[in-house]
Amino acid sequence: MRTVFVTGGAGYVGSHSCKAFAEAGWRVVVYDNLSRGYRDLVNWGELIEGDLNDGETLKAALSKTEPQVVAHYAAFASVPESMREPDVYYRINVEGTRSLLAAMRETAVKQLVFSSSCATYGVHDDLITEGTQQSPINPYGATKMVGERMIQDFDAAYGTRSVILRYFNAAGADAALATGERNTHDPRVIPLAIRGAMDGGFTFTIFGDKLGTRDGTCVRDYVHVTDLADAHLRALDWLDAGKESQVFNLGAGTGTSVAELADAVERISGGKITRKIAPPRAGDPPSLVASAAKAERLLGWKPQHSSIDNIIRTAWAWAQKDRVR
Ligand SMILES: NC(=O)c1ccc[n+]([C@@H]2O[C@H](COP(=O)([O-])OP(=O)(O)OC[C@H]3O[C@@H](n4cnc5c(N)ncnc54)[C@H](O)[C@@H]3O)[C@@H](O)[C@H]2O)c1
Repeated sequence: MRTVFVTGGAGYVGSHSCKAFAEAGWRVVVYDNLSRGYRDLVNWGELIEGDLNDGETLKAALSKTEPQVVAHYAAFASVPESMREPDVYYRINVEGTRSLLAAMRETAVKQLVFSSSCATYGVHDDLITEGTQQSPINPYGATKMVGERMIQDFDAAYGTRSVILRYFNAAGADAALATGERNTHDPRVIPLAIRGAMDGGFTFTIFGDKLGTRDGTCVRDYVHVTDLADAHLRALDWLDAGKESQVFNLGAGTGTSVAELADAVERISGGKITRKIAPPRAGDPPSLVASAAKAERLLGWKPQHSSIDNIIRTAWAWAQKDRVR
């Protein structure tokens, strides 16, 4: 049985991926310090509690479990938090990734799938392809770009192979509600809009309504987390087949504005969201929409679950289930 070592497997995208990996016959080992993840979301393999920056524990875990491939999700992943705490972001996302690459090197694990981000691109008007210039405008995006570069340098020098997946906005929840998004530290826009629809006393803040987009609010490309999990599975198979290192965008290819998103949450939930407009946030590009044509061409990946309605329906259902946990 092939083994995948999943850093950050107790988190949102990682836990959905673990389910997909296990269902496809992979043995799953999760490595997570539970700083932003949850023990009860680790249901598809063993959990080794450890920190990315603890090289000795990491090496011992890799030696003991002997994975063919590492899927590296562990990171801090909030743009506004990274603007306030760049030191923390460089320590976890950059030093943590270097620590992982060094541990893989010392234990002869040669294949890596990396969770990168559309935040590496910065501000662009057009559909973003993998060839679009990466000019991040926030520390989070910069740490992900450095991570990519390190991985590519390690590939060149030490003969490792990698698939870098730059995903756009992960959203939605597992259709069977076996896992979902439970970010209590720095909730993202969909959980916040859902909270607005569930709780009449909560005001949903829209940051900026004159950003030059079609309705003035930020436009993002929301891609269902189950589609992301499927792309990761295809990336494991790509490496397993001995193919070369690659970079892929993962997005649905359509943009949804924050105002449209709030409208969709109201329509699907039947709730009414109290909204307020605040100034734009530093570090937030007005629009980020992917071309994922390369992933379709080479990985055969096509989002199947990423309509906004399906994203909101599954996120809403998960929020109802999870609030009574
Ligand atoms: N969610 C998105 O929209 C999105 C978009 C693009 C890229 N990404 C990337 O995908 C990955 C997963 O994101 P997510 O939304 O699932 O985040 P998440 O916070 O839900 O999961 C991250 C996991 O990593 C763990 N972790 C953090 N620091 C660690 C450390 N030092 N040692 C060990 N474990 C640690 C946390 O406990 C958590 O379980 C991240 O690398 C993120 O940058 C996410």
